[in-house]
Amino acid sequence: MKLPVYLYGHPVLRKVAEPVTADREGLKELLANMYETMYASEGVGLAAPQVGLSERIVVIDADPVGETFPECAGRKLTLINPEIEVLDGERVSRAEGCLSLPGLSENVGRTEHIRLRWVDENFEAHEEEISGFLARIVQHECDHLEGKVYIDHISPIRKQLIRSKLNNIVGGKIRCDYPVRFAPRRKA
Ligand code: NI
Repeated sequence: MKLPVYLYGHPVLRKVAEPVTADREGLKELLANMYETMYASEGVGLAAPQVGLSERIVVIDADPVGETFPECAGRKLTLINPEIEVLDGERVSRAEGCLSLPGLSENVGRTEHIRLRWVDENFEAHEEEISGFLARIVQHECDHLEGKVYIDHISPIRKQLIRSKLNNIVGGKIRCDYPVRFAPRRKA
């Protein structure tokens, strides 16, 4: 089942998400729905807060960008309670987008090399060193679990330049070709 994607301005995107426990009911169904939602909106990653759930769950399928970024080919990751360790200070700036910010793309500087620890859908533990664009996707999605979005990393001047576009998303004045949920209207 496709789920609506919660858009920038919605408070759920600003919450620090809760850890997931092994007795969490309906996890497999939620993961299936998250993958379906991600594929339908042509994203390469989706975090649970983006479907309105403040839980530490991320799905990634980076294969669609595998021709440009070989480290992404065939990489599908289901991350429960992921933890990132920055391995060195090398930072690279590249364009990113986000399903919660339709129509926008901005350059974001991120670390090239990380160590990622997580449990999968069966709560088996994994650890892996990840680099390049795959490391970028993981960092972007894990930001969502901390209540952050990628434009939090751009300069104040750059943010000012896209202010009207952001206001349109917050104000519900955009069209989107996947199901979305806008921020609740503020009382005047
Ligand atoms: Ni995102």
